[in-house]
Amino acid sequence: MAVKKAVIPAAGLGTRFLPATKASPKEMLPVVDKPAIQYVVEEAVRAGLEDILMVTGRNKRPLEDHFDRAVELEQSLEAKGDENKLALVQEPSDLATIHYVRQGDPRGLGHAVLTAADHVGQQPFAVLLGDDLIDFRDTLLEQMIAVQEREGGSVVALMEVPADQISLYGAAAVESSDGDVVRITGLVEKPAVEDAPSNLAIIGRYVLSPTVFDVLRRTPPGRGGEIQLTDAISELIDTEPVHGVVFRGRRYDTGDRLDYLKAVVRLAADREDLGPPLLDWLREWLPTR
Ligand code: UTP
Repeated sequence: MAVKKAVIPAAGLGTRFLPATKASPKEMLPVVDKPAIQYVVEEAVRAGLEDILMVTGRNKRPLEDHFDRAVELEQSLEAKGDENKLALVQEPSDLATIHYVRQGDPRGLGHAVLTAADHVGQQPFAVLLGDDLIDFRDTLLEQMIAVQEREGGSVVALMEVPADQISLYGAAAVESSDGDVVRITGLVEKPAVEDAPSNLAIIGRYVLSPTVFDVLRRTPPGRGGEIQLTDAISELIDTEPVHGVVFRGRRYDTGDRLDYLKAVVRLAADREDLGPPLLDWLREWLPTR
């Protein structure tokens, strides 16, 4: 069955980015001049997924407003004849059909994905984490969807990380490898460095079989008292194929302060309007540090 729906969990508390995230969602932090979440929605649309379910919660209203019409602003820009800015305002609301569900208490990523069960139904679906950016010049989701359509089961995005950083991620044990596609034999959430099965870390893109919902319903809270998506996928391995696609492109975790800064600088440096003056300034300023 073709993958048509995307689920974007965006209900987390964003505690690594306090105080910025006290009253506004981390997914709305601007990366250059666009909120992080808009890059994620654009990526889903590029991969052909136009039915999007966003998992939100308290303090997350700005997410819904961003993808809605802004009638007064549009009227004011129209009256001024400012077509360029008008297009920027209208773009997010024209991107896709976005549905919303509230998570209530953020009890973990697995719990967030479970709130999508009714909307998704019995078909494979994609999950894109709302604070995880894949550079728009690199493709990943399209490849993952193709693997799912060929092999069935579920597909997880993986990335090689330095061995001492694997404890920040879910880690995968893998078997055979066909280029960048691997068969996953085990998954463990945030292992101690010495227990990690590899340095292949799970990053925020998944294409999942709907069976995951049955597993999530009976998955007890795991690490950190949260219902872990990694634990549920790990259980799927016993009954269905689970593959990994190893991503070697550019990825930014905008929920992490340093990675967020890197994303802003890198994407701005590559822009025609901002890149040249930014790079000139950086070249001048860095030697003074
Ligand atoms: P993170 O672990 O990065 O989110 O989850 P967090 O809990 O907000 O982060 P910190 O550690 O407190 O800073 C990855 C994605 O899953 C969503 C988050 O919004 C983020 O997009 N998420 C996480 C939920 O939707 N619900 C949850 O219960 C947990």
